[in-house]
Amino acid sequence: MSSDECDYKLDYIMLSSDAIQRRVSELAMEIEREYRGKEIIVTGVLKGAAIFMADLVRRIGPSVDVRMDFIAVSSYGDLSTSSGVVKIVKDMDTYAEDKNILLVEDIMDTGLTLAYLGEIFTARAPKSVRTCVLLEKPDRKKVDTAIDYKGFTIADEFVVGYGLDYAGRWRHLPDIWNVIEKK
Ligand code: IMP
Repeated sequence: MSSDECDYKLDYIMLSSDAIQRRVSELAMEIEREYRGKEIIVTGVLKGAAIFMADLVRRIGPSVDVRMDFIAVSSYGDLSTSSGVVKIVKDMDTYAEDKNILLVEDIMDTGLTLAYLGEIFTARAPKSVRTCVLLEKPDRKKVDTAIDYKGFTIADEFVVGYGLDYAGRWRHLPDIWNVIEKK
């Protein structure tokens, strides 16, 4: 499909690359303070968290023993509304028992994905499970899932860029954009 066939278009920059980078540095500092002298398995939820996680881990200093892993869950497919169905399609490679797990997500919308992952990881008897989420849309929340390290709270608008996509598009953009339907 060429970009002409997409029914959505970029509207305006909601969060600039500079603002994102500043906040990511602050989050990394918080994480570093919390885990100094410890090992953490930073586990990104693919594909949306890949770019955020790459920036985040590079700002955590050597006082933390950072390991990286990834997990993939089925979520929206090509639609912009939640199906409510969440399942693991690629599990992490690390054995989670007795480990400090830091789950990294791009955005919390309904909260179903994080609630589900929280349950799965808790059942694996880790030392700790915490969550780091770049964006939260509180208006859309369906389940009460706590975020330990949160980047920004945003309004209920569909956003792309910095890892987030619409039908696979726009993940590579350094800023976060709001998208609107083409008229
Ligand atoms: P939740 O389970 O409803 O919290 O959905 C989380 C997932 O929905 C995220 O990891 C994204 O893949 C997707 N998602 C939710 N809102 C947006 C958005 O505004 N832009 C891009 N993806 C979104």
